[in-house]
Amino acid sequence: MDQLDYTYDEIMADHPFAEPLVVQDLHCHGGYDEDGNYIPPRMLNRERAIKAWHEKLQSETNRPLLDCPDDMFADFYPNVAQTKYLLSEGIRQPLIDILTQIGTVEGFGAIIGQVQIPDLQKLFVEDVRGTATAHLGKGLFEAHARDEAGFEDISGHRDMWYAVRDIAFEYPECGDPMQMMMKQMQGGGGKGGEAMAGMASAVMPQNRIVPEISKQAEIMISRMTGLLLIERLAFQTFSWAKEVLGSSEDLAHPEDTTRIVDFICADEYPHVDYTQVALTEMQSRTFIGEDGQRIPGIDVIEPIWKNSMKGMFGFSGKRSTRRDMIISLLNQDLEGNRRKDEILRNFHDLETPDVMPEVHQEANLAAADRGMTY
Ligand SMILES: [Fe+2]
Ligand SMILES: [Fe+2]
Repeated sequence: MDQLDYTYDEIMADHPFAEPLVVQDLHCHGGYDEDGNYIPPRMLNRERAIKAWHEKLQSETNRPLLDCPDDMFADFYPNVAQTKYLLSEGIRQPLIDILTQIGTVEGFGAIIGQVQIPDLQKLFVEDVRGTATAHLGKGLFEAHARDEAGFEDISGHRDMWYAVRDIAFEYPECGDPMQMMMKQMQGGGGKGGEAMAGMASAVMPQNRIVPEISKQAEIMISRMTGLLLIERLAFQTFSWAKEVLGSSEDLAHPEDTTRIVDFICADEYPHVDYTQVALTEMQSRTFIGEDGQRIPGIDVIEPIWKNSMKGMFGFSGKRSTRRDMIISLLNQDLEGNRRKDEILRNFHDLETPDVMPEVHQEANLAAADRGMTY
């Protein structure tokens, strides 16, 4: 049987890299092996550990891993053609802002490292030894947080995205990323704020959802369900970014920038994997409530998961919310441009028809509410 118990240091351990990953003058996490292949950070044992816990889970239950529908999120807006069109017109600020936003949202992943972890064995009737759940506080959360936000003088995804932006746009003036986020939040007649509030509520619900379990446990689980959805959305964002960066004649160093996006992408898989395995383990076990009552795991995880799905649907499932936010930014950027109307018309003409109307999405969520498979 594969090893199921790991120490914190084992989960955090790096491969012995032949060469570190340096982007511009940033020392980033991960590195290269002898043959020059990229190896993600903290993967000496983490990947095989997650695989072993997954196999153990599969031997215990037929339950599929917790996941959202493939079509949960609308296509990225603006699409590749719209983005490249703006660049061809010399309108660069919206893409600079979007890349800054991607980096900043990646940095928010650091919150997983701040989560207070309850005594996990006391939370369940069943033995949790040798599971992903038992290792959340033994490196899994901390490795995830460091992958996203970096640690000490080693950069993680946030800075790697800022580097992608700086290389592609040759060090643009972009100001304070937090101010840029505020600008986006206030855009679109409040739609930007609505979208951001949705994402925040996916990770940090305002009200108790399953009051029978401890607040600390509920907070931990909701951080995990929210981040799992953010991770799923990230893959879609990354493929859009890669296509834009790699195929626009108006951006510099496409080979360098797309390679960094590939590295970031490679680092993301364990985040999705451990979160799915741990949440599915919890679904399959029995919680012990605050008053000692027994609660089937499914009755704890499902409501928290649905709450996160609703929040994230507001952030990126609804095409209209993000669209209003981006168009408002674009209007600001085009202020005073005498070709404004023509550029906006051309931009709208390139919009992908919404193959996933909101009614379909709403139906998906409603189905989830009725406890159907999703
Ligand atoms: Fe990331
Ligand atoms: Fe991630």
